Amino acid sequence: MTGDLASALRDIRRGPVARRLLADILDLAEREGILERIRRLSPLTAERLCGVLRSDLGYVLEQGNRRRMIALLLGLLAECGRVKEAGGAWHWRGEDTVSAAGDAAGIPADRASVETDGQYLFFRECLRSVPAYLRGGPAALQFDRRSAGTWERFLGCAEFRSCRAALLALMALEARPAPRVLDLCHGPGWGVEAVVRRFPAARITALDFTDAFHRTARVRADLAQALHRDAGHPVTPIVWVGPDRWGGFGRPLPFADGEFDAVLFTCGDPYIPAGRRGDVYRDIARVLTPDGKLGILTRCRPDADAHHVASFWLRISALAHDFAESVCAGWEGFSDAEENARLFADAGFRGGAEGRPDAMSFLDSSLWVLRKARGDA
Ligand SMILES: C[S@@+](CC[C@H](N)C(=O)[O-])C[C@H]1O[C@@H](n2cnc3c(N)ncnc32)[C@H](O)[C@@H]1O
Repeated sequence: MTGDLASALRDIRRGPVARRLLADILDLAEREGILERIRRLSPLTAERLCGVLRSDLGYVLEQGNRRRMIALLLGLLAECGRVKEAGGAWHWRGEDTVSAAGDAAGIPADRASVETDGQYLFFRECLRSVPAYLRGGPAALQFDRRSAGTWERFLGCAEFRSCRAALLALMALEARPAPRVLDLCHGPGWGVEAVVRRFPAARITALDFTDAFHRTARVRADLAQALHRDAGHPVTPIVWVGPDRWGGFGRPLPFADGEFDAVLFTCGDPYIPAGRRGDVYRDIARVLTPDGKLGILTRCRPDADAHHVASFWLRISALAHDFAESVCAGWEGFSDAEENARLFADAGFRGGAEGRPDAMSFLDSSLWVLRKARGDA
């Protein structure tokens, strides 16, 4: 990994976006009167809090992922020291603990650059919809043409671009001269672009269950390939596969067994419907060659002993991101890292990073690099 990339990953651990997002979520919870109720009724169970929010604020928490959003909010408050869970109830502990935690990390937030960051702008847009969504309103964003520009700006943010580059570096496909790579759920094409940049000779297939992003993704990929072509390097045309051949998670991938040397799957895992993840990952294993690589970019739910998600700001990032993106259609949330490791092993994967075969995940369980085990492994 280059020094630039390593330094970008260090910056991610400092959580520049999470700092602002946390402040915005706390403001929202204050404005909505959620914090006032926790303070006043403390100690209270999550069940009681949900009951109060239903009756006082008209929240419709039995629908979809809305109850989960309240659990994420309590998790955020606990992470920054405002509440503590004891004896099955939440106890209010006071304010001002966030800045202390931020100071402990020792880095001032760069407010100006965060204000224009695609990730932060996306979350801010999501947060605007939260009050209506919690009261039973519709999902704020879909994977359709209307929202395509919003998704493009979000997914092209600096953090995800660095993470995709890091993931591809860890996947180390250089040994294969022209690897066959599937970009699963290509979206606006940032993943395809990253593959073209790192492996110009790759034979890429890009798949999505909607054609809302097709044109944007194609332009982005064509531009990236044109740079190589102009420099005299041969490139292979990308194969685009859309909704006419794939209905989405839960349907088999429209490819033969062993068709790919690698699968890139970024920012898509939390959209797999609950209970289908095992099937989806087994099917990904099916389309990979033995020893084929799978790279996943996601986040993981902070674990109690901070073993899998260790750094404070990445814990906040996971909870705050999960809370904000909950207003998007189909969002199921981030999974637990240990549950992931078990599920991936059951689906036939082992650790896959070059020189680190024991490790499945990196960057506080945000990057997963897996290798399909051979039949005899
Ligand atoms: C957040 S975007 C990530 C796009 C892209 N991989 C990236 O990193 O920029 C999620 C992707 O999952 C796809 N998706 C969402 N729900 C899906 C479903 N139920 N089945 C299949 N794909 C889905 C969307 O079309 C979109 O491409």
